[in-house]
Amino acid sequence: MPDTPTRASKTPPSTAPTAGEKKVEEVQINGRPYYPGGDPDMPLLWYLRDELRLTGTKFGCGIGACGACTVLIDGKAQRACVTPVKATIGHAVTTIEGLATSAGLHPVQRAWIEEDVAQCGYCQAGQIMAAAELLARNPNPGDGDIAKLPNLCRCGTYPRIRRAIKRAAQIAREGTK
Ligand code: FES
Ligand code: FES
Repeated sequence: MPDTPTRASKTPPSTAPTAGEKKVEEVQINGRPYYPGGDPDMPLLWYLRDELRLTGTKFGCGIGACGACTVLIDGKAQRACVTPVKATIGHAVTTIEGLATSAGLHPVQRAWIEEDVAQCGYCQAGQIMAAAELLARNPNPGDGDIAKLPNLCRCGTYPRIRRAIKRAAQIAREGTK
């Protein structure tokens, strides 16, 4: 499936402020500092995709309804399509590209592979980010907790998502023994 088309960029690439320049506020994205220099009202989704080329985060509805654009901001699942870049200044953003660590894939990513969750795949980055947040606040989620996740999947992979989240919880528990 072709990747989401991106909007033409109108802002210059982000650069670190140099000596003598007005201090530019920083946003941490996947553990690295960035200094958004364009329209502060630009949706974070465009900044990620157009400016940083972090295209794992997808555009679905653009109105905060589907969850395809889910990222973590200070560990909380947020919709990048309705979050202006200015709201992320001083905060830490994690995208699907930053979920794995030097220790390896995140337990949710491992479980997703084991359970072969994806169908078309379009919603899956958002699903994984939402699942990672769920597990961070609830290490043993039940069916009801998982059913409350607001992310949509037009392919109907919900049964596999449910299995994968439970498997991820198991992997995380085993990893902490
Ligand atoms: S694209 Fe952001 S919620 Fe649908
Ligand atoms: S896997 Fe196709 S939309 Fe979710």
